[in-house]
Amino acid sequence: MIVVSNRLPFVLKRNKDGKLIRKASAGGLVTAVAPVVVNGNGLWVGWPGIHLEDPLESIPESDPNDITPTAGLKSNKVVSVRIDPKIFDSYYNGCCNEIFWPLFHSMPDRATFKGEHWRNYVIANKEFADCTITALKSVVKSDNTTASAGQNIPLIWVHDYHLMLAANWIRQSAEEEGIACKLGFFLHIPFPPWDIFRLFPWSDEILQGMLGCDMVGFHITDYCLNFVDCCQRNLGCRVDRKNLLVEHGGRTVRVRPLPIGIPFDRFVELAEKAPKVLSTTQKIILGVDRLDYTKGLVHRLRAFESLLEKHPEHKENVSLLQIAVPSRTDVKEYQDLKEEMDQLVGRINGRFTTPNWSPIRYIYGAVSQDELAAFYRDSAIGLVTPLRDGMNLVAKEFVACQINTPPGVLIVSPFAGAGETMHEALICNPYEITSAAEIIHRALTMPEDERILRMNYLRRREKLNDVNYWTRSFLAAMGSLVTQDDHDDIG
Ligand code: ADP
Ligand code: G6P
Repeated sequence: MIVVSNRLPFVLKRNKDGKLIRKASAGGLVTAVAPVVVNGNGLWVGWPGIHLEDPLESIPESDPNDITPTAGLKSNKVVSVRIDPKIFDSYYNGCCNEIFWPLFHSMPDRATFKGEHWRNYVIANKEFADCTITALKSVVKSDNTTASAGQNIPLIWVHDYHLMLAANWIRQSAEEEGIACKLGFFLHIPFPPWDIFRLFPWSDEILQGMLGCDMVGFHITDYCLNFVDCCQRNLGCRVDRKNLLVEHGGRTVRVRPLPIGIPFDRFVELAEKAPKVLSTTQKIILGVDRLDYTKGLVHRLRAFESLLEKHPEHKENVSLLQIAVPSRTDVKEYQDLKEEMDQLVGRINGRFTTPNWSPIRYIYGAVSQDELAAFYRDSAIGLVTPLRDGMNLVAKEFVACQINTPPGVLIVSPFAGAGETMHEALICNPYEITSAAEIIHRALTMPEDERILRMNYLRRREKLNDVNYWTRSFLAAMGSLVTQDDHDDIG
């Protein structure tokens, strides 16, 4: 398998001696895909997070103390894509983060449409496609039975909104080179309704790019239906909504809901081993997010403030621990959010803090996996309230780590993919601040037996539908997995 994504699962940094070292990347895509590539001995094509000037400088191996799944990714399995820094900036910050990210999260007012960014998106996608073709040729060469025998066909899995054009070029080049391969695409963010999608001036090209694949996957059925709808209304494709099929260029493309999961057992293990880091005197409400405006962090702090106003009995007994990892710091919307959060945390803490207690503990930074597992395990409430989110893995990691009896409570927004599938969580519309405060109060006062019942169901589902299940579902949707059922049929 060759995985292609904008970001590699690590970013490269230089240490004091100028030597390159790896640092783990944060974000749902990397968390989910790293185990797939490592366990499947695949190749990963992506950007290393730094502009390497010396073309011969190579990727270092991981640190021996690294315990993340990324550690198993050997440098000879990594293809680092090098793009001119100015083009990269316009493609990544301009097109991906200032246009697609807000638009696909149905926040078009935050998007800035610029033709220049789109042109650089096209150039960057071409570069990723070319690197993938080079990698594909090397795979085929090292296994010369591949194409000729028609078996063991290489599988290329393209990820996310950064690379919506690349698949079509990969397909065309592979056909020209006479190399057989299968192409799949997975979008880790929502696919918006047609009314929003069509605001993008080059929306036809995006659909044509994605339809270069044999199968296009999304987290939930709603996103699949939005995509199918856009193919029909923008491109005039014949579609089958029931079976989620789109006809395009003489081919039939499958569209599939493939809700992503987490490495459940690994989180349980981390939670079992992690030392205690939180004080037991107060109940902790936990938020863990990239610092991103889609995560509803400002609404969340206001809901917590409203809780302290309406239910003063929680003062000195409950704290909100918000961990926010810095993200996309070159983009103004993200800089503004950082400032707004700093001010809001300061104001709420200034208003309620007593000599013995601060209502909000705010960590602006990444935390280690061990520490994260301990936070998840020892918090009374996991507060996951995005305004919009493709899936949200934090909700799943929280329930995996809830190994204590009695457990805590998960609160989740209906506007995250996780809100569609984690039925036993308390569902909270983050836009309505006072109701959100009431839901937090309900979670804080929920009887033990109800907490146990809800958490048992949530954990059971996430254990079954973990990241391995997601990968198997992807392979099955690609027709690349022979299941027991297939054997039975043949037998
Ligand atoms: P997104 O994909 O938008 O970043 P997800 O919730 O799906 O959101 O995935 C976020 C991933 O990043 C999770 O695996 C989570 O553990 C990790 N993460 C988020 N914030 C932090 C943090 N402050 N420190 C360490 N890891 C984090
Ligand atoms: C989300 C996106 C990923 C992205 C991650 C972190 O999870 O779906 O594609 O990698 O956010 O964002 P960044 O811009 O730092 O890669």
